[in-house]
Amino acid sequence: MKIIKSISRMQNNINSFTKPVGLVPTMGSIHQGHIKLIQASKKQNATTIVTLFINPTQFGENEDFNKYPRNFQQDKKLLSSLGVAILFAPETSRMYPREFQTNVINNQISNTLEGAMRPTHFTGVSTVVSKLLNITKPNNAYFGQKDFQQLLIINKLNNDLNHGVKIVSIPTVRENDGLALSSRNIYLNQNERKAASKIYTSLKLAKDLYLNGELSSDSIINTIEEYLLKESLIKIEYISIRDKFTFDSVYTVTTSSIILIAVYIGKTRLIDNLIF
Ligand code: PAJ
Repeated sequence: MKIIKSISRMQNNINSFTKPVGLVPTMGSIHQGHIKLIQASKKQNATTIVTLFINPTQFGENEDFNKYPRNFQQDKKLLSSLGVAILFAPETSRMYPREFQTNVINNQISNTLEGAMRPTHFTGVSTVVSKLLNITKPNNAYFGQKDFQQLLIINKLNNDLNHGVKIVSIPTVRENDGLALSSRNIYLNQNERKAASKIYTSLKLAKDLYLNGELSSDSIINTIEEYLLKESLIKIEYISIRDKFTFDSVYTVTTSSIILIAVYIGKTRLIDNLIF
């Protein structure tokens, strides 16, 4: 595995890579969710580039940028053992030099749910993903459905800004009890970890209600809310049912609807979703 830290070196190298090239952007602390993306890329591409960059601009002022897990040595070993060809890990000062002044702003989907709770988040994500696509010029780029709103916004920026990349979405990888894998799960203590499994249980409950004939979003959301309120460690931030293509709120659930949840468990913020 070649480790590249310099942006210009990465740009000088891209022509020498055997095509197709697959890109897997990450913020490190590689887990099975990331590995699923990497395996999909390896299957479909001659060269897989994994990027590891903890992007400061997608964290809000009071968020966990400083304590976000950093495991570069461990990640490096793991990625190399997975047969990743290139690990691109640029320095923050090179990605955002002092004179940096351009951002990519989505002005629709980013205004709601995650974007409403974390107002600068998606501008940070869109800008860094645009930069990574420009630097590495992949044929295919891999993103997880775990961050569903992010996936929609990246699809949009790819189309709107004519990046011409194929965006491949990968289903959420879960622990045995259903908790979606996340680099933030390590923040949870034992009791919080137990409570966290109820997020997925509640999503499955929503889907079961729908499969048993309940089509009203409001009614499904109320039932899920009641269920989650019984767990005192969970504080609900939002529960929403949306169209999985337009991201508009839906009042009648169909197979193209998706339920999305954000909760706090102690100080840890977790998100998850399930397509009906
Ligand atoms: P990060 O949280 O490290 O996630 C990197 C990629 O892995 C994202 O596409 C995310 O959706 C996917 N992923 C995370 N957990 C997953 C799971 N349990 N199952 C399947 N896929 C999962 O998301 C980011 O980083 C950043 O916002 C980034 C896109 C790298 C831009 O900075």
